[in-house]
Amino acid sequence: MRYVAFTSLLLLVAELACGPKPGAKAVLPDVPFDELDHNQRLQLMKQVVMPTMAPLFQEHDRERYAKFGCRTCHGASVDRDEYHMPNDKLPKLNFSDMSKFKPEDIEFMKSKVVPTMARILKQPEHSAENPQGFGCLECHTRAAPTARAE
Ligand code: HEC
Ligand code: HEC
Repeated sequence: MRYVAFTSLLLLVAELACGPKPGAKAVLPDVPFDELDHNQRLQLMKQVVMPTMAPLFQEHDRERYAKFGCRTCHGASVDRDEYHMPNDKLPKLNFSDMSKFKPEDIEFMKSKVVPTMARILKQPEHSAENPQGFGCLECHTRAAPTARAE
């Protein structure tokens, strides 16, 4: 018994001394998304974005988002390991005429998707006072270049 405890203590000491092993989960620094390096961005997407956003989307529409994944937001370019945003394959938004969309979808995006992603990415939310903040156009593109600003 004592021997086992001692061995695990040794293992713990060895682990601390060697630092995180490759493959071990490094702790993400508490900084805005833009300050993370590429691997940290990937790690945040896998460890935080997916487990938070999948249930959120599925709660909104279980069938439509049954296969929620990186691809839902980033599109087919994930196959090439590319994750550019905004994604012009998402429905294009024309803020002066949103009548072709369902109000409940727009409301879901506004009240759930934007605030939750902004919080995860540690970015301020888009608003009239803060047009640079995280908003719809971080993911979607505009329908027409003539469309008025939000
Ligand atoms: C809910 C939508 C959403 C999902 C799901 C999602 N992402 Fe993202 N991802 C984003 C947004 C938005 C950004 C851009 C954030 C920014 O630049 O402020 C981003 C950025 C990234 C970036 C950084 C790109 C760059 O140019 O630096 C990588 C890498 C990435 N995502 C990988 C992934 C992977 C891998 C998955 C699946 C495990 C995933 N994402 C799932 C929304 C999503
Ligand atoms: C984090 C990324 C992200 C942000 C931010 C975001 N959306 Fe979305 N939006 C998506 C994804 C992903 C879908 C689902 C696309 C699909 O079903 O394939 C979607 C779907 C929609 C739909 C449904 C479209 C349809 O075909 O019925 C509407 C409408 C919409 N978004 C509007 C908005 C508006 C308005 C905002 C800002 C208030 C916004 N979105 C912010 C990622 C985002």
